[in-house]
Amino acid sequence: MRRPIVAGNWKMHGSRVENARLIEALTAQFPAESAAQCVVCPPVVYLSDVGRLLRDTPIELGAQSVCAEAQGAYTGEVSAAMLKDVGCTFVIVGHSERRSLYGEDNVLVARKFAAVQSKSLIPIFCVGEQLAERESGQTNDVIARQLDAALELCGAGAFANAVVAYEPVWAIGTGRVATPDQAQEVHAFIRGRIAARDAKIAAEVRILYGGSVKAGNAAELFAMADVDGGLIGGASLKAEEFLAILAATRR
Ligand code: PGA
Repeated sequence: MRRPIVAGNWKMHGSRVENARLIEALTAQFPAESAAQCVVCPPVVYLSDVGRLLRDTPIELGAQSVCAEAQGAYTGEVSAAMLKDVGCTFVIVGHSERRSLYGEDNVLVARKFAAVQSKSLIPIFCVGEQLAERESGQTNDVIARQLDAALELCGAGAFANAVVAYEPVWAIGTGRVATPDQAQEVHAFIRGRIAARDAKIAAEVRILYGGSVKAGNAAELFAMADVDGGLIGGASLKAEEFLAILAATRR
């Protein structure tokens, strides 16, 4: 059985005061019986702070990005070892905003995936197609290229300790969520692509859906056979909404 995960990607939002308020609200109402794993990914500058607030809670800490290099003269960058040092257990790599706004290509994302794993952190490896790619029937090709870059660099074995997030770019922050069938189709494709190299690992890897997930649409997405939870942007900034999404995961 794959344990569901709900991860909140706060993006570039929050402040010390707002973060403390959000964590307080999340922990105060956190369901004692939650079977799902819950992660929040604040901006890097707040990781230590939020990590302290999460101590002795079931909520885990994740980062939104990482440098592919281990250490050295990389002004402005943060290494996987540093993220581990401040208490992260997860790191998002290859988010579409990193790919499209900061020029991260498949090779760089795969190197980041490797850097995260080299420190025994769990990558949340994002893949997803743009609207034009979907409309021209290229969804599977795009996803295959994104996935294969990591499979080729690290091998299928690396996915034993990784989470994949399918995030159609046209659904991120747009309110236009993929239908459960659209999500399931791509999730099954991702699992199949990994299965072609290692069926056991593919059966166990958790694949999250991301893109306009809300309390009102989470349950129908999470009910799909290959959807193991969600990567949540906007709705992760509201405690009630985020907890309702967590409650919508499979038991
Ligand atoms: P959204 O973002 O939930 O606001 O659409 C999802 C993401 O970018 O991970």
